[in-house]
Amino acid sequence: MNINYLTISFLLTLLLPLISGLSSNHLKCSSKNIPAMYVFGDSLFENGNSCHLGLPSNEACFLPYGIDFGGKPTGRCTNGKTMADYLAILLRLPFPSPYLGLSKHQRSKITRGITYASAGSGILQETNNETSLTLPTQLKHFKRTVQNDLPKMFKEHVLLERHLSESLFVINAGVNDYGQTINKIFPSTRSFALLLLKEFSRHLQELYILGARKFLVNNIPPAGCFPSIAAHMTPKGNCNETLNKKINFYNKRLLGVLYQLQSQLPGFIFVHADLNGFLVEMRTTAHKYGIFDTWKPCCHNIIDGDPRCRRDVIPCADRNTHLYFDDHPSQITNNIYVKRCFQEATICRPSDLKHLVYA
Ligand SMILES: *[C@@H]1O[C@H](CO)[C@@H](O)[C@H](O)[C@H]1NC(C)=O
Ligand SMILES: *[C@@H]1O[C@H](CO)[C@@H](O)[C@H](O)[C@H]1NC(C)=O
Repeated sequence: MNINYLTISFLLTLLLPLISGLSSNHLKCSSKNIPAMYVFGDSLFENGNSCHLGLPSNEACFLPYGIDFGGKPTGRCTNGKTMADYLAILLRLPFPSPYLGLSKHQRSKITRGITYASAGSGILQETNNETSLTLPTQLKHFKRTVQNDLPKMFKEHVLLERHLSESLFVINAGVNDYGQTINKIFPSTRSFALLLLKEFSRHLQELYILGARKFLVNNIPPAGCFPSIAAHMTPKGNCNETLNKKINFYNKRLLGVLYQLQSQLPGFIFVHADLNGFLVEMRTTAHKYGIFDTWKPCCHNIIDGDPRCRRDVIPCADRNTHLYFDDHPSQITNNIYVKRCFQEATICRPSDLKHLVYA
């Protein structure tokens, strides 16, 4: 009996990894080609860097943020998981740790991804540069990771190169440039969008030079439909199409910029994720997912003009029926978005996410 038991458990130990390996290849993507995820951009992807900036007013480091993340506020600007979290789950990666939360020692041990994203940041260095890690600053931190930290784990340069070229670089940036900077520096919609595109392209090239090859890029969401803005339209809840049109000027040209980079940089591959189209579409189709409030946020004080949930405010009880938590999508919206990006070529192009994973 003992022997049988041992034999069986021994066989199981041998077989289980094989069985689960097989099923994971067939049912979902295997993450064997994506060893790590490096995350850049703003509050949609942020998961804690802000909590280390020492600016108590500007973060999501208190409840009700995180109320559905085990009741733990982490800096995620939503009730639960972010889009980056759901991407990590699909790719079978751990949630990437926020860069500023890691000690020097921890930084030299991490090989499965880091988040540099920071709430409030934009594409331009001018955007919220005193209250967030700007995208140029995020890139500086990533450069340190590549030059100082990763070589401790990848002793041979070719191994480090391979690690970076197989990793996924996800970026969500631009909406805060429209929120904060557009009126300050560039009055013309056209010149502002072209400036943003030029800068964004330059940032992607910097990542490429550091070794990045696989990119997932969100376009800019429809800020004109965000609760804080929709609340002041007539009728209430309508989008500010003037603002949306400005953003669309940028969005219409983003895919072209990515194709251009692909044609110039050998090995550069990307997924363009239409976050804007998704959020606009959800205003009329969200009920299919049980979401009935498509503009009223869970934190009601956003409607009164606050940029964030007030500390310890009681949010709505039915968070899965709201498209927005504050001015940011709720967890359920994030989940639907990433699932659909993974499955549908309508949101994620040139192909769905699987294409990038297997490339
Ligand atoms: C921060 O942004 C302001 C404009 O908003 C600009 O004048 C200043 O040079 C920037 N500072 C840094 C350190 O980038
Ligand atoms: C809509 O947005 C534009 C551009 O940001 C702004 O100038 C305008 O005042 C907004 N309209 C309303 C009704 O809030």
